Amino acid sequence: MKRVVVLTGAGISAESGISTFRDSGGLWEQYRIEDVASPEGWIRDPRLVTDFYNQRRKQLLEVSPNYGHKGLVELEKYFDVHIITQNVDNLHERAGSKNIIHLHGELTKVRSERFDNLVYELTPDKYEVKIGDKCERGYQLRPHIVWFGEAVPMLGEAIKLTETADIFVVIGTSLNVYPAASLVHYVPEGKPIYIIDPNSIAINNNNWHYIKKVASEGVKELMKIITSTTQ
Ligand code: APR
Repeated sequence: MKRVVVLTGAGISAESGISTFRDSGGLWEQYRIEDVASPEGWIRDPRLVTDFYNQRRKQLLEVSPNYGHKGLVELEKYFDVHIITQNVDNLHERAGSKNIIHLHGELTKVRSERFDNLVYELTPDKYEVKIGDKCERGYQLRPHIVWFGEAVPMLGEAIKLTETADIFVVIGTSLNVYPAASLVHYVPEGKPIYIIDPNSIAINNNNWHYIKKVASEGVKELMKIITSTTQ
């Protein structure tokens, strides 16, 4: 089976009701990154940060995967599909995808402020974390999220996976944030890259095929194209 590697961003969850970051009305219009998504913000006001992620976890309980997520599961009938997501929501998991790398962490997990390896899964009935909730070694629990300025532990694995792609797909990301955006440069020479995004993306390579549609429609079109061209 040929391998399809998919890089997803906030846009794939937009139709599920989760706002993106940089579209108009996006999350970074409502909050300052330095206040809620940086180590400095956490040190300055851990309560504000804890509440910000509690609200995003609460929203997770009210949304569900759209066909953008589900179509990638459908694709597994024809290809060996691996997902590298910048998203911290669990919609790929809930759609049924198995091979997922979360580059920027996971909303449904928290970890010890002091010991990165002490990671805890939150359940829907206990999704809220408070200041004073501690890990087993007595340190405050923080979101298991990669904040701006922090290392991206899964990057090496994501690069290695990208280097094995027969087809690379980019869905719903402005490719604004590095190192995630640099993955497109690790796609093997000559392998096709499909971009699914309703807004215009600067295409700078004739191996890039642009599907100017929302994720749910774009994934349907992608399926038609790649199942007919690669048997
Ligand atoms: N379907 C597909 N794409 C969409 C849709 C949709 N329905 N709606 C919007 N988009 C596209 C936008 O055109 C844009 O290109 O999704 C992209 C969203 O871009 P961003 O808001 O920048 O989100 P993303 O690229 O995921 O941000 C990357 O930045 O803030 C950090 O850690 C955060 O993981 C995030 C990273």
